[in-house]
Amino acid sequence: MAAMTMKNAFAPRHIGPGVADTRAMLAATSVPSLETLISQAVPKRIRLERPLDLPAPASEAEALAELAQKMSANVVLKSFVGLGYHGTHVPPVILRNLFENPAWYTAYTPYQAEISQGRLEMLFNFQTLVAELTGLPVASASLLDEATALAEAVGIAFRHHKEKRGRIAFAGEPHPQTRAVVETRAEPLGIEVDGDVVDENTAALVVAWPDTFGVFGDHAAKIAEAKAAGTIVIFVADPLALTVMQTPASLGADIAVGSMQRFGVPIGFGGPHAAYCAVSDRLTRLMPGRLVGQSVDTKGRPGYRLALQTREQHIRRDKATSNICTAQALLANMATAYAIWHGPDGLQAIAAHAHDLAARLAAGLKAKGVTVLGDRRFDAVTVEVPGRANAIAKEAEKDGRLLRAIDGDRLGISFDETSTEADLQAIAALFGADVPEKAGRLLPGKAREINGFLSQPVFHENRSETEMMRFLRKLADKDLALDRTMIPLGSCTMKLNAAAEMIPVSWPSVANLHPFAPKEHAKGYRSMTDDLERWLAEITGFAAVSLQPNAGSQGEYAGLLAIRRYHAARGEPHRTVCLIPSSAHGTNPASAAMAGMDVVVVRCTDSGDIDMDDMHAKVAQHADNLAALMITYPSTHGVFEEGVKDLCQLIHDHGGQVYLDGANLNALVGLARPGDIGGDVCHMNLHKTFCIPHGGGGPGVGPIGVAEHLAPFLPGHVHEGSSHPVSAAPFGSASILPITWMYIRMMGAAGLKQATEQAILAANYVATRLKDHYPVLYKGRGDRVAHECILDTRVLKESAGVTVEDVAKRLIDYGFHAPTMSWPVAGTLMVEPTESEPKRELDRFCAAMISIAREAAKVTSGEWPKDDNPLANAPHTATETLASDWRHPYSRMEAAYPAGDPDTTAKYWPPVSRIDNVAGDRNLVCSCPPVEAYLGAAE
Ligand SMILES: Cc1ncc(COP(=O)(O)O)c(C=O)c1O
Repeated sequence: MAAMTMKNAFAPRHIGPGVADTRAMLAATSVPSLETLISQAVPKRIRLERPLDLPAPASEAEALAELAQKMSANVVLKSFVGLGYHGTHVPPVILRNLFENPAWYTAYTPYQAEISQGRLEMLFNFQTLVAELTGLPVASASLLDEATALAEAVGIAFRHHKEKRGRIAFAGEPHPQTRAVVETRAEPLGIEVDGDVVDENTAALVVAWPDTFGVFGDHAAKIAEAKAAGTIVIFVADPLALTVMQTPASLGADIAVGSMQRFGVPIGFGGPHAAYCAVSDRLTRLMPGRLVGQSVDTKGRPGYRLALQTREQHIRRDKATSNICTAQALLANMATAYAIWHGPDGLQAIAAHAHDLAARLAAGLKAKGVTVLGDRRFDAVTVEVPGRANAIAKEAEKDGRLLRAIDGDRLGISFDETSTEADLQAIAALFGADVPEKAGRLLPGKAREINGFLSQPVFHENRSETEMMRFLRKLADKDLALDRTMIPLGSCTMKLNAAAEMIPVSWPSVANLHPFAPKEHAKGYRSMTDDLERWLAEITGFAAVSLQPNAGSQGEYAGLLAIRRYHAARGEPHRTVCLIPSSAHGTNPASAAMAGMDVVVVRCTDSGDIDMDDMHAKVAQHADNLAALMITYPSTHGVFEEGVKDLCQLIHDHGGQVYLDGANLNALVGLARPGDIGGDVCHMNLHKTFCIPHGGGGPGVGPIGVAEHLAPFLPGHVHEGSSHPVSAAPFGSASILPITWMYIRMMGAAGLKQATEQAILAANYVATRLKDHYPVLYKGRGDRVAHECILDTRVLKESAGVTVEDVAKRLIDYGFHAPTMSWPVAGTLMVEPTESEPKRELDRFCAAMISIAREAAKVTSGEWPKDDNPLANAPHTATETLASDWRHPYSRMEAAYPAGDPDTTAKYWPPVSRIDNVAGDRNLVCSCPPVEAYLGAAE
C-alpha cells in the first residue's frame, strides 16, 4: 500500500485545532508543549511508555478499500432464516435523509428538551405506533433488542410482585437467543426460567407470538390461568404481524415486547435495531428506558420532553428500574419513519404479502405430503423433513437463498417484504411441491380493520417523497446536533463521526448479512471483528475482548457477570459486595444490582477524589464478601486520581476484582491502559471514544476487555454453542463496528495518542479561559484537569439567583448545546470539548460562557430584574422575539443574538421556550391522541 502522505492523512482531519491553533492553546494554558501538559496532568506511574502496537495509519481511501475487500468475503444470500431478523427495504428517502444524515445521527440523547423537539417528536410517534400495534396505552422510546426487551419485561413483572415471585413460564417457545438472554438475566436475580406451570409463584407468563417455529399456539386457557393467578402476561410479538391481527392487549397482555427491525432497519449481522416495550397503565412507573412525554412551554405551547424516569439511574441508583441509558433512538426513529412512509395501509399490504407467501407455501407443501408444523402462522413455515434438512438448505444456497436448518430434520422458511413470487416458486420446487395461487388467512383471531389503527394525521400526511423529505428536514431543523455546533457534554465525548467511518454501515456486505448465517458466510465480518478485538485489547491492555454488549450499561453488566461467575467458579459465590464511589455514573449501581450484587457506596472527598479512609474501612468491613470495586478512570470529576494503582492493589489483596468504567477512555488512549493500571475488566463506549455517533440516544456499543483469568467468563451465544449472552446477536450491534474499525485504522497509534493529548489540551484550555468567571472544580495534579472540566455555576446563583438551568437554556440562544448539567455535582456544568472541536468553536463557547457571566452581573447589579432578564427567559423563540409587544428590559437583539455582530443567517431558533417538566409528569401524555381528538379540536 502506498505510504500515506500528509496531504491525505486522516488524523489532522479528525483533530480540530491545527498546528498554529494548538500552539496558541498551549500558550494560553501556560505550557510549552503538549508533552509537558500531559506530564503535568497524567500521573507518571500509569503512563504507557511505548507506542501502541497498531497498524500504521491508512488514508480514508485506503482504509475504505481495505475494509471493502475484507467485507467482500461475506457471502450475503437472500435470507429466509427469520429468527427475529427479516429482510426489509430501507426506503431510500429514509436512508438518505435520516439514516445517513448527520443532523439525525450526530444528535445526543434529548435531555435538553428545547433543542431536541424534532427527535422527541419522532420518538413520540414511535410510542404512538407501538401503542397502536399492541393496544397497550404506554410505550417506551425503544430498548436495545428483542431479547433484552423481554428480559426487561420479566424485570417489570418481578418488581411488580415486589420480587416475591421467583418463576417465569412460557406459552410457546421463543427464539433460542431470546430465551438465552432471559436465562442470563434471571440467574443472578434467582428467577427460575422453566416450563409452563402458572401458579402463585409465577411472576410472568411469556407468550411467544408467534413462537420460534412461526406458529401461533392456542394460549387462551393458559392466559386465563395466569390472569387468575395474578401473573403478568407478556407477549413477545412480531410488530408486522400485529398490523393484521388483534392486539396483544385484547388477548390479555399486560406487557408486549418485540423487535422493530423489519420496519425498514437493515439486518446488519444482528444490529443495531430498536426493540419496543409497551405496558398497561398500572405498570407505567416500572417501565425501563426512556419515555417521551408531552408538556407545555412557558407560553403554553405543547412541547415534548423525556418523562418520569429520565436519568432515573442517577436518582434511584441500585433501586433503578433498569440500567438502560443509551438505547436505540436512531433506529426507533427509522422504524417510525418507515411506518409514516407506508401508513397503516402500506404496512398491512407488506404484512399481507409475507403472509400470503407463507400461507401458499404451507398449502403447497401440505398437498405434497410434507409435514408442516402448526396451523396458525404469519410469515414462516417450519417443515419436518427427516434427515433431509441440511441437504435441502444446501440446495437452496446454490440459488442464493438461505433457509433456517433448525436441525437435521427440520427446516424453517420465513418470508418478508423483500421475498418474491420467484422465491416462493423456487423454494416450493426444492420440495417438489406446487403452490396454489391463493391460500386462506392462517392468522388467529379477527383481522384488524383497514382503518382500525394509526389514524393520527402524521401516519397519513407524508406519503409523497417531497413531503417525506421535508418532514424529515423539518424535524432535523428543530434540533441541535454536531453538524451545527459543538456538544460539550461531559462524560459523553461528542467527537467527530467522520463520513469515511460512516460509509461502510450502508454497504450491502455489511447491512444485509443475517447474524445466524453459517460461519463460512461471515468471514469478512469475522476478520473485521478479529482486528477490532485485537486492537481494543492492545489499547486497553487486556487479554480478551467481547464486542457483544450493545451499550455501555450492557458492558457493565457483562463485566460484572464475568466477575460474579469467576468468584463462583473459585468456590466463592458469597463474594457479592460491590463497592462503588458516590460519584459513579448511575448505571454502575444499577448494573451491579442486576448482576445480583450488593452495592456499598464509598464516599468522595470535597476535592472529588475517592475518600481513602472510607475505602479502607469499607474494604476491611466487607473483606470476606468483597466481589468488586467499580471505578471510573479518570474519575467522573474529570481527575486522574494519583493513587489508582494502590487502590486496585488494595482490592486485589482482599480478594476482589476491579471493574473500570471506561467511559472516560478518551483521556487514556495511547497514554495509559486500564489493564496496566490494575483493572480486571473495563468497558469501552465505542459511541464515545471510538466515534460511533450517538444517534440521538443510541445506538451504542459497549465492548468489554478482560484480564486472562476472566476470559472464560465473557458472554457466549447459543449460535456459537456457548451460554450467558447479554445481547440477542453474537456481536451485538455488529453493523456499526466498522465505524470504530475505520477510526482506529485511519488514526494509527500516533494519531490516537495525539487525539487524547489534544482532548486534554482542549479541556485545560477551556478551564483556563473560564476560571476567572466560574470556579473550576476538582483539578488534579499540576492543577490540571483531564479531558473534561466542571464549571461551578453556583456562583451565579449566589450572586444573581441565576440557576444552572438558566445558563444551560441561555446557551441555546448563543447556538450551543449545554454541557452536562448537574452531574456529577448538582448546580454545575461538566464540559468535555473533545479533540475534534476547532479552536474557533472552543473560543465561541468560552465567549458565550463569559458573556453569560456578564449578563448575570447585570442581574446582580439590578440593571435587569431577577425575574425578567435574558437568562431567566431563555431560550427565546422567534415568535417571542418578533412579537409586536416587546416589554423586556433588554433588547430583541440581546435576546436572540447575544454574541453580538453575529452571522444572522446561521442563527438557531429553538422551536419552543422553556419546557415545564413538572406539568409533563403530572399529566402524562406519551402518545398521539386518536384522530377523533383532532376532529373535536377542529369543530
Ligand atoms: C461514566 C459513565 N458510565 C456509564 C455510562 C453508560 O453508558 P451507556 O449510555 O452507553 O449505557 C455513561 C454514559 O454516559 C457514563 O458517562
